[in-house]
Amino acid sequence: MTDESPDLQPSSQIDTTVPHSARVWNYFLGGKDNYPVDREAGEQYRRVFPEIIDIARTDRAFLGRAVWYLTGEAGVRQFLDIGTGLPTMDNTHEVAQRAAPESRIVYVDNDPLVLVHARALLTSSRSGVTDYIEADLREPGKILEVAAKTLDFTQPVAIILLGILHFIDYDEALPIVARLLDAVPSGSYLALTHATLDLSDADANAQAQAEFNEKAAVPITPRTREEIMRFFDGLELVEPGLVSMSRWRPEATPFAEPAEVAGFCGLGRKP
Ligand SMILES: C[S@@+](CC[C@H](N)C(=O)[O-])C[C@H]1O[C@@H](n2cnc3c(N)ncnc32)[C@H](O)[C@@H]1O
Repeated sequence: MTDESPDLQPSSQIDTTVPHSARVWNYFLGGKDNYPVDREAGEQYRRVFPEIIDIARTDRAFLGRAVWYLTGEAGVRQFLDIGTGLPTMDNTHEVAQRAAPESRIVYVDNDPLVLVHARALLTSSRSGVTDYIEADLREPGKILEVAAKTLDFTQPVAIILLGILHFIDYDEALPIVARLLDAVPSGSYLALTHATLDLSDADANAQAQAEFNEKAAVPITPRTREEIMRFFDGLELVEPGLVSMSRWRPEATPFAEPAEVAGFCGLGRKP
Protein backbone atom coordinates (compact mmCIF):
# COMPACT_ATOMS: atom_id res chain seq x y z
CA MET A 1 0.00 0.00 0.00
CA THR A 2 1.16 3.53 -0.64
CA ASP A 3 -0.17 6.77 0.79
CA GLU A 4 -1.19 7.74 -2.75
CA SER A 5 -3.65 4.85 -3.30
CA PRO A 6 -7.14 6.41 -3.36
CA ASP A 7 -8.88 3.95 -1.03
CA LEU A 8 -5.91 3.82 1.27
CA GLN A 9 -5.82 7.43 2.29
CA PRO A 10 -5.27 7.29 6.02
CA SER A 11 -8.48 8.02 7.91
CA SER A 12 -8.29 10.39 10.84
CA GLN A 13 -8.09 7.34 13.13
CA ILE A 14 -5.08 5.85 11.37
CA ASP A 15 -1.86 7.22 12.81
CA THR A 16 0.84 7.13 10.16
CA THR A 17 3.43 8.85 12.33
CA VAL A 18 4.38 5.83 14.46
CA PRO A 19 4.83 2.14 13.55
CA HIS A 20 1.85 -0.12 14.33
CA SER A 21 2.30 -3.85 14.88
CA ALA A 22 -0.37 -4.96 12.38
CA ARG A 23 1.27 -2.91 9.61
CA VAL A 24 4.89 -3.80 10.45
CA TRP A 25 3.87 -7.48 10.60
CA ASN A 26 2.24 -7.08 7.18
CA TYR A 27 5.55 -5.63 5.93
CA PHE A 28 7.48 -8.63 7.31
CA LEU A 29 5.04 -10.93 5.48
CA GLY A 30 5.67 -9.13 2.19
CA GLY A 31 2.32 -7.28 2.19
CA LYS A 32 1.57 -3.79 0.89
CA ASP A 33 -0.79 -2.64 3.66
CA ASN A 34 1.74 -0.50 5.50
CA TYR A 35 3.05 3.07 5.57
CA PRO A 36 6.60 4.47 5.25
CA VAL A 37 6.95 4.67 9.04
CA ASP A 38 6.15 0.93 9.31
CA ARG A 39 8.51 -0.04 6.49
CA GLU A 40 11.32 1.98 8.06
CA ALA A 41 10.81 0.35 11.47
CA GLY A 42 10.50 -3.08 9.84
CA GLU A 43 13.69 -2.60 7.81
CA GLN A 44 15.60 -1.44 10.86
CA TYR A 45 14.39 -4.52 12.77
CA ARG A 46 15.40 -6.79 9.89
CA ARG A 47 18.88 -5.25 9.54
CA VAL A 48 19.62 -6.02 13.18
CA PHE A 49 17.78 -9.37 13.35
CA PRO A 50 17.16 -10.84 9.87
CA GLU A 51 15.41 -13.91 11.36
CA ILE A 52 12.32 -11.77 11.99
CA ILE A 53 11.12 -12.55 8.45
CA ASP A 54 11.25 -16.31 9.18
CA ILE A 55 9.49 -15.69 12.47
CA ALA A 56 6.56 -13.94 10.75
CA ARG A 57 6.22 -16.67 8.12
CA THR A 58 6.60 -19.45 10.68
CA ASP A 59 3.90 -17.92 12.85
CA ARG A 60 1.47 -17.97 9.92
CA ALA A 61 2.44 -21.54 9.07
CA PHE A 62 1.69 -22.53 12.69
CA LEU A 63 -1.72 -20.85 12.37
CA GLY A 64 -2.45 -23.04 9.36
CA ARG A 65 -1.33 -26.29 11.02
CA ALA A 66 -3.09 -25.50 14.31
CA VAL A 67 -6.41 -24.62 12.63
CA TRP A 68 -6.11 -27.72 10.44
CA TYR A 69 -5.60 -29.85 13.57
CA LEU A 70 -8.50 -28.11 15.32
CA THR A 71 -10.99 -28.66 12.51
CA GLY A 72 -9.69 -32.18 11.81
CA GLU A 73 -8.58 -34.23 14.80
CA ALA A 74 -10.20 -31.98 17.40
CA GLY A 75 -13.50 -31.45 15.55
CA VAL A 76 -13.77 -27.76 16.51
CA ARG A 77 -16.12 -25.64 14.39
CA GLN A 78 -15.91 -22.25 16.15
CA PHE A 79 -12.96 -19.84 16.26
CA LEU A 80 -12.39 -16.58 18.12
CA ASP A 81 -9.25 -15.06 16.57
CA ILE A 82 -8.13 -12.03 18.58
CA GLY A 83 -5.31 -9.88 17.16
CA THR A 84 -6.18 -11.11 13.68
CA GLY A 85 -3.84 -8.78 11.81
CA LEU A 86 -4.22 -7.54 8.26
CA PRO A 87 -5.62 -10.13 5.87
CA THR A 88 -2.99 -12.26 4.19
CA MET A 89 -2.91 -15.77 2.70
CA ASP A 90 -4.66 -18.58 4.55
CA ASN A 91 -6.48 -16.53 7.15
CA THR A 92 -8.18 -18.54 9.90
CA HIS A 93 -11.57 -18.83 8.16
CA GLU A 94 -10.00 -19.95 4.89
CA VAL A 95 -8.11 -22.81 6.54
CA ALA A 96 -11.03 -23.78 8.79
CA GLN A 97 -13.72 -23.63 6.10
CA ARG A 98 -11.55 -25.53 3.62
CA ALA A 99 -11.63 -28.44 6.07
CA ALA A 100 -15.11 -27.80 7.51
CA PRO A 101 -17.20 -25.29 5.49
CA GLU A 102 -19.71 -24.87 8.34
CA SER A 103 -17.02 -23.32 10.61
CA ARG A 104 -17.93 -20.04 12.32
CA ILE A 105 -15.18 -17.49 12.84
CA VAL A 106 -15.10 -14.20 14.75
CA TYR A 107 -12.12 -11.96 14.15
CA VAL A 108 -11.13 -9.22 16.63
CA ASP A 109 -8.51 -6.48 16.31
CA ASN A 110 -8.08 -2.96 17.68
CA ASP A 111 -6.20 -1.49 14.71
CA PRO A 112 -8.41 0.78 12.56
CA LEU A 113 -6.56 -0.28 9.39
CA VAL A 114 -7.52 -3.91 10.01
CA LEU A 115 -11.15 -2.76 10.16
CA VAL A 116 -10.70 -1.01 6.79
CA HIS A 117 -9.52 -4.31 5.30
CA ALA A 118 -11.97 -6.53 7.19
CA ARG A 119 -14.03 -7.10 4.05
CA ALA A 120 -11.31 -9.49 2.90
CA LEU A 121 -11.80 -11.44 6.12
CA LEU A 122 -15.54 -11.70 5.71
CA THR A 123 -15.65 -13.94 2.67
CA SER A 124 -17.32 -16.89 4.34
CA SER A 125 -18.38 -20.19 2.84
CA ARG A 126 -22.18 -20.40 2.44
CA SER A 127 -22.70 -22.80 5.30
CA GLY A 128 -20.29 -21.02 7.67
CA VAL A 129 -20.04 -17.50 9.05
CA THR A 130 -17.27 -14.96 9.54
CA ASP A 131 -17.66 -11.83 11.58
CA TYR A 132 -15.41 -8.98 12.68
CA ILE A 133 -15.36 -7.03 15.93
CA GLU A 134 -13.30 -3.89 16.43
CA ALA A 135 -12.23 -4.27 20.05
CA ASP A 136 -9.25 -4.40 22.37
CA LEU A 137 -8.15 -7.64 23.99
CA ARG A 138 -8.21 -5.72 27.26
CA GLU A 139 -12.02 -5.60 26.95
CA PRO A 140 -12.75 -9.35 27.16
CA GLY A 141 -16.31 -8.71 28.40
CA LYS A 142 -17.19 -6.73 25.26
CA ILE A 143 -15.51 -9.30 23.00
CA LEU A 144 -17.42 -12.19 24.58
CA GLU A 145 -20.73 -10.35 24.51
CA VAL A 146 -20.49 -9.38 20.83
CA ALA A 147 -18.95 -12.71 19.76
CA ALA A 148 -21.91 -14.52 21.35
CA LYS A 149 -24.09 -13.18 18.52
CA THR A 150 -22.11 -15.41 16.14
CA LEU A 151 -20.62 -18.16 18.29
CA ASP A 152 -22.48 -20.63 20.51
CA PHE A 153 -20.58 -20.59 23.80
CA THR A 154 -22.18 -23.88 24.88
CA GLN A 155 -20.12 -25.58 22.14
CA PRO A 156 -16.29 -25.77 21.91
CA VAL A 157 -14.50 -22.64 20.72
CA ALA A 158 -10.85 -22.30 19.74
CA ILE A 159 -9.44 -19.05 21.12
CA ILE A 160 -6.61 -17.92 18.86
CA LEU A 161 -4.12 -15.42 20.29
CA LEU A 162 -1.22 -15.34 17.86
CA GLY A 163 1.43 -12.66 18.25
CA ILE A 164 -0.69 -10.49 20.53
CA LEU A 165 -0.06 -11.30 24.21
CA HIS A 166 3.43 -9.75 24.09
CA PHE A 167 1.71 -6.36 23.58
CA ILE A 168 -0.14 -6.64 26.91
CA ASP A 169 1.27 -6.32 30.45
CA TYR A 170 1.73 -9.75 31.96
CA ASP A 171 -0.37 -8.97 35.06
CA GLU A 172 -3.21 -7.93 32.78
CA ALA A 173 -2.75 -10.66 30.15
CA LEU A 174 -2.96 -13.66 32.53
CA PRO A 175 -6.44 -12.82 33.89
CA ILE A 176 -7.70 -11.86 30.41
CA VAL A 177 -6.76 -15.28 29.03
CA ALA A 178 -8.30 -16.96 32.10
CA ARG A 179 -11.51 -14.94 31.60
CA LEU A 180 -11.78 -15.97 27.95
CA LEU A 181 -11.19 -19.61 28.85
CA ASP A 182 -13.81 -19.42 31.61
CA ALA A 183 -16.40 -18.44 29.01
CA VAL A 184 -15.90 -21.55 26.85
CA PRO A 185 -16.89 -25.18 27.58
CA SER A 186 -14.80 -28.31 27.99
CA GLY A 187 -13.31 -29.37 24.66
CA SER A 188 -12.38 -25.77 23.78
CA TYR A 189 -8.81 -24.81 22.92
CA LEU A 190 -6.29 -21.98 23.34
CA ALA A 191 -3.73 -21.47 20.56
CA LEU A 192 -1.00 -18.90 21.06
CA THR A 193 2.31 -17.68 19.73
CA HIS A 194 4.53 -15.39 21.75
CA ALA A 195 7.84 -13.52 21.31
CA THR A 196 10.79 -14.76 23.36
CA LEU A 197 14.52 -14.27 23.74
CA ASP A 198 14.93 -17.88 24.90
CA LEU A 199 15.53 -19.29 21.42
CA SER A 200 18.15 -18.28 18.80
CA ASP A 201 20.27 -15.09 18.74
CA ALA A 202 19.00 -13.34 21.87
CA ASP A 203 21.37 -10.34 21.70
CA ALA A 204 20.41 -9.28 18.17
CA ASN A 205 16.72 -9.94 18.85
CA ALA A 206 16.82 -7.92 22.10
CA GLN A 207 18.55 -5.03 20.34
CA ALA A 208 16.05 -5.04 17.46
CA GLN A 209 13.12 -5.12 19.89
CA ALA A 210 14.57 -2.32 22.03
CA GLU A 211 15.01 -0.10 18.97
CA PHE A 212 11.48 -0.95 17.77
CA ASN A 213 10.04 -0.17 21.20
CA GLU A 214 11.56 3.32 21.18
CA LYS A 215 9.25 4.26 18.27
CA ALA A 216 6.35 1.84 18.25
CA ALA A 217 2.77 2.73 19.17
CA VAL A 218 2.77 -0.27 21.55
CA PRO A 219 6.02 -1.91 22.73
CA ILE A 220 6.68 -5.64 22.52
CA THR A 221 7.66 -7.63 25.63
CA PRO A 222 9.35 -10.98 25.01
CA ARG A 223 8.77 -13.60 27.73
CA THR A 224 10.43 -16.75 28.96
CA ARG A 225 9.17 -20.25 28.40
CA GLU A 226 8.01 -20.44 32.03
CA GLU A 227 6.08 -17.16 31.78
CA ILE A 228 4.36 -18.20 28.54
CA MET A 229 3.54 -21.64 29.97
CA ARG A 230 1.37 -19.99 32.62
CA PHE A 231 -1.19 -18.95 29.96
CA PHE A 232 -1.96 -22.68 29.69
CA ASP A 233 -2.71 -23.13 33.40
CA GLY A 234 -5.52 -25.67 33.76
CA LEU A 235 -5.28 -26.83 30.12
CA GLU A 236 -3.93 -30.06 28.61
CA LEU A 237 -1.15 -29.20 26.17
CA VAL A 238 -1.46 -30.94 22.81
CA GLU A 239 1.81 -32.71 21.82
CA PRO A 240 4.56 -31.57 21.35
CA GLY A 241 3.71 -28.92 23.98
CA LEU A 242 5.16 -25.42 24.12
CA VAL A 243 7.89 -25.35 21.47
CA SER A 244 9.49 -23.10 18.89
CA MET A 245 6.84 -22.31 16.26
CA SER A 246 8.81 -24.18 13.60
CA ARG A 247 8.81 -27.38 15.70
CA TRP A 248 5.05 -27.76 16.27
CA ARG A 249 3.99 -30.74 14.16
CA PRO A 250 6.06 -29.62 11.13
CA GLU A 251 5.08 -31.04 7.81
CA ALA A 252 7.01 -34.18 6.96
CA THR A 253 10.00 -33.58 4.69
CA PRO A 254 13.00 -35.74 3.78
CA PHE A 255 15.21 -33.14 5.50
CA ALA A 256 16.25 -32.65 9.12
CA GLU A 257 13.91 -31.08 11.69
CA PRO A 258 13.43 -27.34 10.98
CA ALA A 259 15.72 -24.93 12.85
CA GLU A 260 14.16 -23.25 15.87
CA VAL A 261 12.91 -19.68 15.51
CA ALA A 262 12.55 -17.17 18.36
CA GLY A 263 8.86 -17.57 19.04
CA PHE A 264 7.02 -20.08 21.22
CA CYS A 265 3.72 -21.64 20.24
CA GLY A 266 1.33 -24.02 21.90
CA LEU A 267 -2.15 -25.45 21.74
CA GLY A 268 -3.99 -26.35 24.93
CA ARG A 269 -7.33 -28.15 25.46
CA LYS A 270 -9.75 -27.25 28.21
CA PRO A 271 -10.55 -30.53 30.02
C1 LIG B 1 1.97 -9.21 15.20
S1 LIG B 1 0.33 -9.01 14.64
C2 LIG B 1 -0.19 -10.73 14.57
C3 LIG B 1 -1.29 -10.95 13.55
C4 LIG B 1 -1.79 -12.39 13.43
N1 LIG B 1 -2.42 -12.85 14.66
C5 LIG B 1 -0.65 -13.32 13.06
O1 LIG B 1 -0.19 -14.06 13.95
O2 LIG B 1 -0.20 -13.29 11.92
C6 LIG B 1 -0.50 -8.46 16.14
C7 LIG B 1 -1.94 -8.07 15.92
O3 LIG B 1 -2.56 -7.87 17.20
C8 LIG B 1 -3.28 -6.66 17.19
N2 LIG B 1 -3.31 -6.15 18.57
C9 LIG B 1 -2.26 -5.75 19.32
N3 LIG B 1 -2.67 -5.38 20.55
C10 LIG B 1 -4.03 -5.56 20.57
C11 LIG B 1 -5.03 -5.38 21.55
N4 LIG B 1 -4.72 -4.92 22.77
N5 LIG B 1 -6.31 -5.68 21.24
C12 LIG B 1 -6.64 -6.14 19.99
N6 LIG B 1 -5.73 -6.34 19.02
C13 LIG B 1 -4.44 -6.05 19.29
C14 LIG B 1 -2.53 -5.75 16.24
O4 LIG B 1 -3.33 -4.70 15.74
C15 LIG B 1 -2.10 -6.74 15.18
O5 LIG B 1 -3.07 -6.87 14.18
